[in-house]
Amino acid sequence: MLLTRRHVLKAAAASALLPRLAAAGPVTLTAREARQQIAPEGYPDTAIWGYEGGAPGPEIRVAQGARLSRRLMNELPQPTAVHWHGIRIDNAMDGVPGLTQQAVPQGGSFDYDFTLPDAGTYWYHSHNRSMEQVARGLYGPLIVDEPSAPDIDGEWVLVLDDWRLDPETGALAGDFDNGHDLSHAGRLGNLLTVNGGFDPAYPARQGARLRLRLINAANARVFELGLDGMQGWIVALDGMPLEEPLPVSGAFPLAPAQRADLIVDITAESGTAASLLSIERDGGYGLCRFDVAGQGARATREAPVPLPPNPLPVIEGLADSPLHQMRLEGGAMRWLDSARLGETELSGRELAQLGRFWALNGQADRPETPFLDAARGSLHRIAFVNETAFDHGMHLHGHHFRVIAPNGELGPWRDTVLVARGETRQIALVADNPGDWLLHCHMLGHASSGMTSWFRVT
Ligand code: C2O
Ligand code: CU
Repeated sequence: MLLTRRHVLKAAAASALLPRLAAAGPVTLTAREARQQIAPEGYPDTAIWGYEGGAPGPEIRVAQGARLSRRLMNELPQPTAVHWHGIRIDNAMDGVPGLTQQAVPQGGSFDYDFTLPDAGTYWYHSHNRSMEQVARGLYGPLIVDEPSAPDIDGEWVLVLDDWRLDPETGALAGDFDNGHDLSHAGRLGNLLTVNGGFDPAYPARQGARLRLRLINAANARVFELGLDGMQGWIVALDGMPLEEPLPVSGAFPLAPAQRADLIVDITAESGTAASLLSIERDGGYGLCRFDVAGQGARATREAPVPLPPNPLPVIEGLADSPLHQMRLEGGAMRWLDSARLGETELSGRELAQLGRFWALNGQADRPETPFLDAARGSLHRIAFVNETAFDHGMHLHGHHFRVIAPNGELGPWRDTVLVARGETRQIALVADNPGDWLLHCHMLGHASSGMTSWFRVT
């Protein structure tokens, strides 16, 4: 089956209509090859790798506090593993080959089973050879519902991606470890998609209040997003509710792996369309649209109220907490002089020949010893010092952290922070989830060519 657009019913209506499925063995999540119409109609379809054969894979939706269990079946021609991005998860279920599990071989399976402590918008994706496997389509949305839903008329999960396709054949460009991409901004595509298709259209009514769950599944593209024909507020980032909804005015960035939950009121007239825009230098391009037909129930509304908070740790005594510096080094224009690979110091030229272009604190692969060895429950500050000529989206596994604003105030909870070129960004982390956790750039080609480290909580 090709991708069907995900029509999300209002939660109440959906649960009234859907019969409970009898438990008949573990629910499977099969990673396999498939074909999908990624390019616009009239162009050839594309060979992808997808969960259940779709990119994105099926929407997985669970109630906050519930358990999720899925048996990954690997029908791909490569080993794989699933990472549940943004979930403050049991370490053994984190899906990182070589750190929390073995990669699942071709024909093999792995049972994931864990609880979901936080409501919000998350996603799942391959964490083996992810710069290739995610680019081929191995990702999907993971939605955790609040016990009480916000007052909305409808909801759409919008998974953004960019694909590098040959327009003649529809084929995905296979140059996943092309050194130019690795050493620059990463693999950027030539076709922007929402939910695996070009410029999809969804129905809406004028005056309707919708929740849009945006997920950036692209390998490297930082989307600059804008709204047309709707008025919106950001109500959550990386799954975690903001204390106050933030009105959208102009463009806002969404780095790879980041999510933003918006509440929008459709202001476009019946017979026209509202759009989610990608803001480029020369204007805004529609990523997807809402075809407006008819009038919604209510005309004007108050600003939305905040979503209910998640059970996040309390941050106290920040000024006394240890500050750990992580230098982001290398890449085009600031080439590494040298860095360690394992225990060996190599020159930048030698590293480049081995496909390594970046380093974190002078190390161009995941080091033997953790960047941070934290006692469970301890508070830490990490300063990401970006000495490179590119932006990086730094992601921590198993935890959310708060971004520290330049004035020292605590900003939003996130699991991925965009650190612009030349900038230093501090975060506050309560290391409260025991285990070994990756810390890496989510520009996936950067992660595989030097920007991967890890931390331990015991
Ligand atoms: Cu979204 Cu290490 O991953
Ligand atoms: Cu990076």
